[in-house]
Amino acid sequence: MISVIIYLVVLILELLFFVSFAVFTIFLIYSSVKGSPYVPTKNKQVNLILEKAKLKKSEIFLDLGCGDGRVVRTAVKNFQVTGIGIEINPLLLIWAKILSGFQRLKNIDFFRLDIVKENLPKADVIYIFLMPKLIAAITPKLKKHLDQGALIISHGFKIKRLIKYFRYKIDQNPFPTYFYKLKSDI
Ligand SMILES: C[S@@+](CC[C@H](N)C(=O)[O-])C[C@H]1O[C@@H](n2cnc3c(N)ncnc32)[C@H](O)[C@@H]1O
Repeated sequence: MISVIIYLVVLILELLFFVSFAVFTIFLIYSSVKGSPYVPTKNKQVNLILEKAKLKKSEIFLDLGCGDGRVVRTAVKNFQVTGIGIEINPLLLIWAKILSGFQRLKNIDFFRLDIVKENLPKADVIYIFLMPKLIAAITPKLKKHLDQGALIISHGFKIKRLIKYFRYKIDQNPFPTYFYKLKSDI
């Protein structure tokens, strides 16, 4: 009898593992199909980038395609900005919210939006780590924010059509980071 129970428990655990793995994989594929795979920014790079951005308490920090929210969560925690994370993948969004709850962060919100289809909220600093094709699709929206004085930080890839706003590059492995602004005050 005990061996049957043990067998059933092991079977249920295996099933749970495979179902979770399948769900996770499906959502990873979903992120890629929507424009950018989920590849988090390395934590040591997050700190360097945020320090270079010289964030102020009064600023709104927006992470487009925020993944687990590590960049916007660190910005809120270390620089007391107001943080907004936008993510299309519901699984990552829930995870980002859980982590920010664990950290007891205030002034932070996460929304499920497609950044190609929807309007972007107002922000002083916008962080992206997206594939070039997705960057190209949202470049007109980024340009509008730049013209209103926002700082745009692109981790990984240049924003080709915004070259005249380019101000600074952090050259680091595994990915460089590009800073864009209307006026050069960074
Ligand atoms: C390379 S990851 C970057 C994650 C996070 N910003 C970081 O640096 O750790 C790109 C993220 O963009 C999200 N994404 C892809 N297409 C999107 C879209 N159309 N709208 C919103 N988010 C999207 C993916 O789900 C993924 O989490």
